[in-house]
Amino acid sequence: MRALVYHGPGAKAWEDVPKPAITADTDAIVRVDTTTICGTDLHILKGDVPIVSDGRILGHEAVGTVEEVGGGVRTVKVGDRVLVSCVSVCGSCRYCREGHAGQCLGGGGWIFGYKIDGTQAEYVRVPFADTSTYAMPPGAEDEDILMLADILPTGYEVGVLNGGVRPGDVVAVVGSGPVGLSAITGARLFSPSHIVAIDLADSRLEAAKQFGADITVNNARQNPGEVIASLTGGLGADVAIEAVGVPASFELAVALSRPGGRIANIGVHGEPATLHLEEQWIRNITITTGLVDAYSTPTLLRLVTGHQIDAKRFITHRFALDEFDKAYDVFARAAETRALKVVLSRAP
Ligand SMILES: NC(=O)c1ccc[n+]([C@@H]2O[C@H](COP(=O)([O-])OP(=O)(O)OC[C@H]3O[C@@H](n4cnc5c(N)ncnc54)[C@H](O)[C@@H]3O)[C@@H](O)[C@H]2O)c1
Ligand SMILES: [Zn+2]
Ligand SMILES: [Zn+2]
Repeated sequence: MRALVYHGPGAKAWEDVPKPAITADTDAIVRVDTTTICGTDLHILKGDVPIVSDGRILGHEAVGTVEEVGGGVRTVKVGDRVLVSCVSVCGSCRYCREGHAGQCLGGGGWIFGYKIDGTQAEYVRVPFADTSTYAMPPGAEDEDILMLADILPTGYEVGVLNGGVRPGDVVAVVGSGPVGLSAITGARLFSPSHIVAIDLADSRLEAAKQFGADITVNNARQNPGEVIASLTGGLGADVAIEAVGVPASFELAVALSRPGGRIANIGVHGEPATLHLEEQWIRNITITTGLVDAYSTPTLLRLVTGHQIDAKRFITHRFALDEFDKAYDVFARAAETRALKVVLSRAP
């Protein structure tokens, strides 16, 4: 088969590799019908994630068709169309049993395109198939649910639910990339009074408006603190969601929150950020962090089939499965190409 293989910082190739085989009886082999690229894949290609070794197949999001199942797989059957989540769930460790599979101790968690071969390939081996895949809802197409593999549960769980968004809240979302837009999408389900999207790129702020932000602020030109203060009688945001992953955006999210407010960090950080405890100790704030667990996937699937969430609207560019070079290029130049999510699909 062919797959997108990582060969060290800056190097990747769509090349011939052996087709994956079942190695544990809880595995399934899934034919990848549709996949996408994540900002995290760009981090890996930059060499920011050194645990990823030369020869690793990239990718951690897919919708596909089950080709083969191990003897221990009970509910997933050959021919089923499934969502392959970025988080694998062993189902028996302490964290999985508490709904926190992102921290799985039994060989799951985020493993695709990281610790094991990923989904940017014609076929992928999916461990713990019964607990790590989701059946395609009747009548749905691949593109309707592909964003549930990573960004939608991430924005919803790590941003909206960790931040405890409630009706009437003023919610500040720092960063309007696909993950920030997912947080906006999820926050709207709770009827906040205002969602304020903050980004340095106007193209991303235009997208934020379309995804339901009430107010957009380009923090290169405008002070978001003043905007939030004017909405909240000078108090600050009830919830500030950080969806960038640099010190400035975390520090901004803390600065924007009101006393008693909640700050939900989603961004993957590569360097230390400053928490001004000398100012914050008295302000009763709550800060949360997290890797997505994907426990909300069944809920999000119902919201998609019930038309409360349009997961397809993130898709801005479409490619054939062998066009990874083009797709990565368009995705990496998002400011120029206005890409949100790029999708690659096998020929029908
Ligand atoms: N915690 C998790 O489980 C998890 C899962 C997936 C992704 N992530 C992380 O979420 C973050 C966002 O992902 P994405 O795919 O949306 O990334 P992205 O790079 O597409 O979007 C980030 C946005 O932040 C904006 N930005 C940069 N600096 C800023 C600043 N100082 N102030 C305001 N805006 C700024 C950029 O213009 C861009 O639009 C990344 O760090 C990613 O690794 C975390
Ligand atoms: Zn991802
Ligand atoms: Zn586990």
